[in-house]
This record gives sequence, C-alpha cells and structure tokens, in this order.
Amino acid sequence: MKIVVTGGLGFIGSHTVVELQNENLEVVVIDNLSNSSIEVLDGIERITGKKPIFENFDLRDKKATQDFFKRHSDVAGVIHFAASKAVGESVKDPLLYYENNVASLVYILQELQKKPQAQIIFSSSCTVYGQAEVMPIAETTPIQVAMSPYGNTKQIGEEIIADVTKMSNINAILLRYFNPIGAHPSAEIGELPIGVPQNLVPFITQTGIGLRNELLVYGNDYPTIDGTCVRDYIHVVDLAKAHVLALQRLLNKKNLEKLEVFNLGTGKGSSVLEVIQAFEKVSGTKLPYRIVARREGDVTSTYANTDKANAILGWKTQSTLEEAMASAWKWEQKVRQR
Ligand code: WQD
Repeated sequence: MKIVVTGGLGFIGSHTVVELQNENLEVVVIDNLSNSSIEVLDGIERITGKKPIFENFDLRDKKATQDFFKRHSDVAGVIHFAASKAVGESVKDPLLYYENNVASLVYILQELQKKPQAQIIFSSSCTVYGQAEVMPIAETTPIQVAMSPYGNTKQIGEEIIADVTKMSNINAILLRYFNPIGAHPSAEIGELPIGVPQNLVPFITQTGIGLRNELLVYGNDYPTIDGTCVRDYIHVVDLAKAHVLALQRLLNKKNLEKLEVFNLGTGKGSSVLEVIQAFEKVSGTKLPYRIVARREGDVTSTYANTDKANAILGWKTQSTLEEAMASAWKWEQKVRQR
C-alpha cells in the first residue's frame, strides 16, 4: 500500500513524508524540483533511515501523470501539496497558478477516479476565508471572494474535489492551514525559500543570521494588540502529524462524510512584534527591524478555531511559538554552515 506525496520535497511535504514513514507507511514522492531541492531526500533519510521512492516529473504533464499511476497501481492515497503558493507572484502571473494548481489536481483526480476506491488529502489554506468577520475562524466561517489568484486556486481546488467526491469513489479531506513555520527538531529538513523570502519567519531567521540587513514590518497601524497583523503560526511538524491522522481516518474508513474539512492552527493569534520578540528570546539576538507601510492584500487578523480537528481528528498542536521559532533558528544556522 503506497502513499503518494506530491510536492513531497517541499516545506510541508517533506515534514509529512517523515511522519508517514514514522508510521511505517510506504511513501512515493512526486516533485518537479521547481521550489525544492533533491538534497531534501537525504535529509528525510537521515531522520527516518528510509529514503522514499522519488519520481521527478511535472504534474502538469498529463501523460506523465497517467504513466505514473499505471506504474504504481497499488497507490492507496494521495496527499497533494504540489502547487505554486506565492500570493504576490500569483497576481503577476495568474495563468501560471491556474495551470499549475488546478490542471495538475484534475489529472490526479482523473487517475484516482479509475480506482475501486481512493483517498486524497488536499493542501488548502486559511486564505480561503479572506478577512473573516469573527475570530477565531471555524470551518463553517463563510468563504470570501479570493483576494488573489493563489487563494482562488485553493477555493477552486476545494470545489473540484467536492464535486468529484459526490459522483465517484473518492473520499477526501481538505486541510486549511494557517501559517506554517519552524523546522524538524533534527534540523535535517526545514523551509528553503528560493530568493528573498516572502514569509515573515524565514525573513526573520535570515536577518538574524546576517543574510538580510533588517526586517521590514509591514504596518503597525492595524486595530490589533500592538498595531501589527495577527496570524496563527503553527509548527510544521504539528501540521505534518495532522496529515497522517487525516489519511489514516480515510484509510480506516472512519470519515463520516465523503468530504471533510479541518482548520489546522494553534487556535492562538500572534502579532508580528510578538513573533519578533519570540525570536529574540530564543536566539538571544536583537533583531533589526523597521516599521514601513502596510503590504497590499494583508488581512488584519486571522487565527483558527481548532475544536473540530481536536475533537474529530484527535489532533492538537504540541509546540509553542517559541519552540517553533527556536526550530526555525536552529535550521537557519545549520543551513548557513553548509
Ligand atoms: C505574515 C505577517 C505580513 C514578511 C501567506 C499566504 C498564505 C500562506 C502563508 C500558503 C503579515 C508580515 C511578512 C515581512 C512582515 N501560504 N510580514 N514583513 O501573508 O499571513 O500568509 O503565507 O498557503 O496563503 O498568504 O504570511 O509570513 O507573508 O506574513 O511584516 O518581511 O507578517 O505583513 O502580517 P501570510 P506572511
């Protein structure tokens, strides 16, 4: 019984591969290395002692995707991470996002539909909620009109999966992530942003290590505890463990519906300044930063109501913000030693 992890050499994908192998599941990774590196395979093996089967091709290639599922006819489930995920880039190049994030999902589902029964775990995002009216955000919180083509591809992906589960033998769980941060405690794998990091935490650690001169804080005039935006920062290992529980739920036919949705966060909001303070505390270094204008498209505050995942998946985050920041810092220091 094989589990396919698309985008399995990426940030969340690689951490999920480790947790799947820890459960003695056989993993096949598909990755086109467009936003990851082949060294991640070695990092995974250093942690678990097992190197997953790796297939290097692009899921936009329908023929290659069909051939893959012919060669691996014993696939029991797919965890689908492979997608482009930079909000700003998606505004500049929407068709890249619609092709990469939507077409590839369709090709995978077409193959799963041929099986007597199949399961898919879909990597979605709190982005689908936009700026929700009420905090914390529950799965029943209304989906808002997407604020970017990236966010729209996640909404479309959810809708495609919902339609397909209605008329096929495919069971699905949509996992809506809040803000994944940190790295595996071994510091063998972690976040590897290519170029200038768009996300807050890798920018902080790269500033801390001296790669960047200073962090620009995008606005401190929001109606929040200290004027900076609030997000729900979740340790990537906690997030990875939720994927294993969700997959096992489907494999063991414990799901009550053919399509289920879970928010994955800590349930706690943290401001940008609180994240900076957490970094300074765990690293013992002062972080140079400057308050500048707001960033287009940022929501003021978003954090999860995690009651459903706690009650139904039996999952709760274990790591604190400081532990997550400490793991991100340890990883940054290790990467820079290479
Ligand atoms: C967090 C906060 C910024 C960088 C994005 C995607 C979301 C998901 C996670 C994929 C915001 C502030 C940031 C910086 C800053 N990705 N910030 N200076 O925007 O909440 O979510 O990543 O699913 O879909 O939208 O994360 O880390 O970019 O920003 O002040 O240099 O940090 O303004 O308030 P975001 P982020």
